[in-house]
Amino acid sequence: MSSFIFIVPSYFGVDMGNSEGTYQIGPLLIAYEKVKSVMDEETYKWHHDTHYAGYVNKRNEVESELSKVDRSKANANYSAFRAMKLEETWNGNGMLLHEMYWDTMGGDGKYDAEMEIIKRLDEDFGSFQAWKDDMTATAKSGRGWAVLCIDRFSDNKLRNFLFDAHNQGGIVGSVPILVVDVFEHAYYHKFGPDRGAYLAAFMDNIDWKKVDEKFNRHKT
Ligand SMILES: [Fe+2]
Repeated sequence: MSSFIFIVPSYFGVDMGNSEGTYQIGPLLIAYEKVKSVMDEETYKWHHDTHYAGYVNKRNEVESELSKVDRSKANANYSAFRAMKLEETWNGNGMLLHEMYWDTMGGDGKYDAEMEIIKRLDEDFGSFQAWKDDMTATAKSGRGWAVLCIDRFSDNKLRNFLFDAHNQGGIVGSVPILVVDVFEHAYYHKFGPDRGAYLAAFMDNIDWKKVDEKFNRHKT
């Protein structure tokens, strides 16, 4: 069975034809059983059908509106153009980060010390445990996302970045390798306010083979 939770159309270039516009909604493909340790069944559905689909649909809507808005009234205090430009990145990153979040879930959290990604985590963080502690602390400190990235344009090292909102906190040119959603809609229904329990379950559900493949595809 595939370890993909979703086909992620924008990420893999598959056109599902189910949203009006450029960007398409990927369907749920994996059994709930694969991720039930991290989320309850309602969240599994709501997160995809309401939250994620909402970002894709609104990204398309914003793109359509941007083609018509009056650019001559652009203003940093208030203008329709400014509002749309802000929502363009809010919805765009909302779509992409969700796709990346689900993309490396559904595993058993086990890894092989010979994996390139594990060797690089050892090198850049000191040890796998040091990376895990930093990633967990990053996720506990954020309002939106914690993201393991290749910081390509700085020194090419792996870093855990905190994206406080979809469109706030990313480093230009960095490549996401592993993404965790810490917005409350991701875990409250199952774990209540215990974000630490959600993160522990998430860590044990990572598909490291997929993370390693992604790292090898994007490293330079
Ligand atoms: Fe989410």
